[in-house]
Amino acid sequence: MRAIQLDAPSLDALKTVDLPEPTSRPSEALLKLHAASLNFIDIAVATGGLPVPRFPIIPVADGAGEIVEIGVNDLGLKAGDKVIPHFMSNWQGGSIAPQKVAAMRGVTSVGSLAEFVAVPVSSLVRLPTHLDFTQGSTLPIVATTAWNALQTGRIGPGSVVALLGTGGLSIMTLQLAKAAGATVVIMSSSEEKLARAATLGADHLVNYKVSPEWDAKVLEVTDGHGADLVLDTVGQATFARSLKAAAFGGTVFTVGFLTGTAPSINLLDIVVKALNVVGNNTGSTDNLAAAARAIESHRIVPVISETYAFNDAAAAYARLAAQGQHFGKIAIQH
Ligand SMILES: NC(=O)c1ccc[n+]([C@@H]2O[C@H](COP(=O)([O-])OP(=O)(O)OC[C@H]3O[C@@H](n4cnc5c(N)ncnc54)[C@H](OP(=O)(O)O)[C@@H]3O)[C@@H](O)[C@H]2O)c1
Repeated sequence: MRAIQLDAPSLDALKTVDLPEPTSRPSEALLKLHAASLNFIDIAVATGGLPVPRFPIIPVADGAGEIVEIGVNDLGLKAGDKVIPHFMSNWQGGSIAPQKVAAMRGVTSVGSLAEFVAVPVSSLVRLPTHLDFTQGSTLPIVATTAWNALQTGRIGPGSVVALLGTGGLSIMTLQLAKAAGATVVIMSSSEEKLARAATLGADHLVNYKVSPEWDAKVLEVTDGHGADLVLDTVGQATFARSLKAAAFGGTVFTVGFLTGTAPSINLLDIVVKALNVVGNNTGSTDNLAAAARAIESHRIVPVISETYAFNDAAAAYARLAAQGQHFGKIAIQH
């Protein structure tokens, strides 16, 4: 089968290879993959930011495809069904635990840049019926995380959600937050991207290059209330302001460290407003399934700004690694 292999932690170390087709064990399903999508974690693997147990690997966490072989299973899945394999394939449900996050597709196990892959049946989620494989391939990491952010922040009609940037996670959270009836304040470095976010329902647009004190803007546009949920995808450069942008009793959901991991903060910002500062490491297959159900019932279509051919996977990586050029997701078609 055709696959793309990463031989070393370098963006120059991706190469097309011909590998034997995998076979599936009784607890697994054999999938024919049709699409993959990139996340920051894939860049971290390909640049050495996230050490992997061994090279070479078949990279890329997220993908979508159809079942080729599967045994009798509780989910009622059968050959020909369209599915999304979850990124954290050991984490079926319940709270986080070390063994549940030990298996990560494209990091510790075979990822999505292969024609065929064997995955645990318990990690499969049905592709929402209104989505094609490419759109579905964008869901595992960002839909799971966006869902968990909104659930943790107890976001519903009238809640205020603040989002940093217009990458894959922020845009999926924007779409789900609007479906939940929330008001969304979104920050971006680009007027063009802000205008695009407005077409997806963003209520308040803040250019963080023009207004580096974006936290004050969040307070201003919410009449001093602040955000009930701040999704911090950026880390060191934004975390202190995320605390200031949050409402009393609000949630700062901290997931990203695009700019580093060591922010300088004032603890009083957490104490005085009794904030919930919550970390998150993607989530379970059950979380992805819940997000997929919401995406299907609201007919949400993930935003993909660029799609690359399989043989151009290196160009897709370069585009995401360049940061700031894309809007939403970058996908790769098999
Ligand atoms: N822990 C978890 O559960 C989890 C799950 C998913 C993702 N993540 C993390 O979340 C982060 C974002 O993921 P992603 O897939 O959305 O990445 P992405 O698609 O690469 O998006 C990154 C965006 O962040 C924005 N940005 C960069 N610096 C900023 C700043 N100083 N202030 C505000 N926005 C800034 C930019 O938006 P503009 O171009 O609009 O300015 C950029 O496009 C990554 O660190 C990823 O690892 C964590």
